[in-house]
Amino acid sequence: SIEAITAREILDNRLEPTLRVTVETAAGTGQADVPRGRSRGDHEAVDLRDGGDRYRGRGVRQAAAHVEERIAPALVGHDATAQRTVDARLDALDDPDDPLGGNATTGVSLAVLRAGAVATDQPLYRYVGGADTHVLPLPFFDMIEGGELAGGDLPFQEHQVVPVGADSVAEAVRMAAEVYYELGDIVRAEYGEASLNVGAEGGYNPTGVADPRTAFDLELRAIEACGYDGEFALAADVAASHFYDPETETYALLDDRLSRAELLAFYEELVDTYPIVSLEDPLDQHDFDGYVDLTDRLDVQVVGDDLFVTTPDRLRRGIDRGAATALLWKVNQVGTVTAAREASRLATRNGYAVQVSERSGQTPDTWLADLAVGLGAGQIKTGVTRGERTEQYNRLLAIETELGDAATFGPPVEGTLVP
Ligand code: PGA
Ligand code: ZN
Repeated sequence: SIEAITAREILDNRLEPTLRVTVETAAGTGQADVPRGRSRGDHEAVDLRDGGDRYRGRGVRQAAAHVEERIAPALVGHDATAQRTVDARLDALDDPDDPLGGNATTGVSLAVLRAGAVATDQPLYRYVGGADTHVLPLPFFDMIEGGELAGGDLPFQEHQVVPVGADSVAEAVRMAAEVYYELGDIVRAEYGEASLNVGAEGGYNPTGVADPRTAFDLELRAIEACGYDGEFALAADVAASHFYDPETETYALLDDRLSRAELLAFYEELVDTYPIVSLEDPLDQHDFDGYVDLTDRLDVQVVGDDLFVTTPDRLRRGIDRGAATALLWKVNQVGTVTAAREASRLATRNGYAVQVSERSGQTPDTWLADLAVGLGAGQIKTGVTRGERTEQYNRLLAIETELGDAATFGPPVEGTLVP
């Protein structure tokens, strides 16, 4: 059972504070670092930040104090393997007038999960997924960044390449790495050295490029130069809420203000021209009607991130109406492992795909890779370069080796992501 819970303020990849939570049990220790998005949805669980001058208000000492003073006393003595009970306790403790903080609950929930794995002497992925765990996820590599996550002019946040022709994580990572090197040569030659300056997730930032089509063209050229034609599909996290203006109900794209219908026509042309298999957040996060129409008209995976915020209620609303076809899965959007798992179960039961996702702010902690395998999601996005991303790939490679012949690769539904 849980003997102690402590929390420390640590730094993430942006040199911004985040929480590291440690759970001690008689059987060992579980620890987890909390991620943080920059391009956040309106309906996400809200992190508790200290305010004031320290770290420009971004400190998490108060959240750490909530873990140690409010949460720990309520959880000490509980069974660390009773995840649902622990998470229900966290929900019950939370007070809307004095919130624990989404960062505090996420950290405790994940650290308890890790402690449960340790207590039962299993790797985290198997503790989450059970004896049958075998699905390694197909990674979406964020090769070119824009939007809120990079300094350039590209409106879309992530222009991803997806190695649909790979048959293992090892092959997918190697192929994507080769494309990344090649793309680096191309953007440096054409847009100058500064194009190699990467965004929050380690993707390039080609100077002066403002048209998503140019980004896709560059990716296709790199793919072809590597001899991988047909082995890669393309995808994007549009994060459209960030260029949507609710006043005029238009999207600011390419020096133009597009209505929803015009933006939809733009996507139709994109999907006709490029081997695009997946679009995340293509419309404003409040526009469920638009999503229903778009999902109907575009023959690609439509992923809801800001739209669903990993929240069962919002996903249920989408499922009932036919908005999107996939759930982007981020534990800290909803604040506990149990609520996030409820969302993924709801998705799977209703034929929605699940893509496990990093945040733009995170640490090299690899619970994400384990959870992607444990859920059997079949898809992961975790940026592209820098340690907090590559450690996820390294962990997936280790799990793949450990599972050996038992491992399968990619979305459980055959053919879902082939262009
Ligand atoms: P975030 O961005 O982690 O800053 O929210 C990633 C995303 O939008 O998927
Ligand atoms: Zn997103």
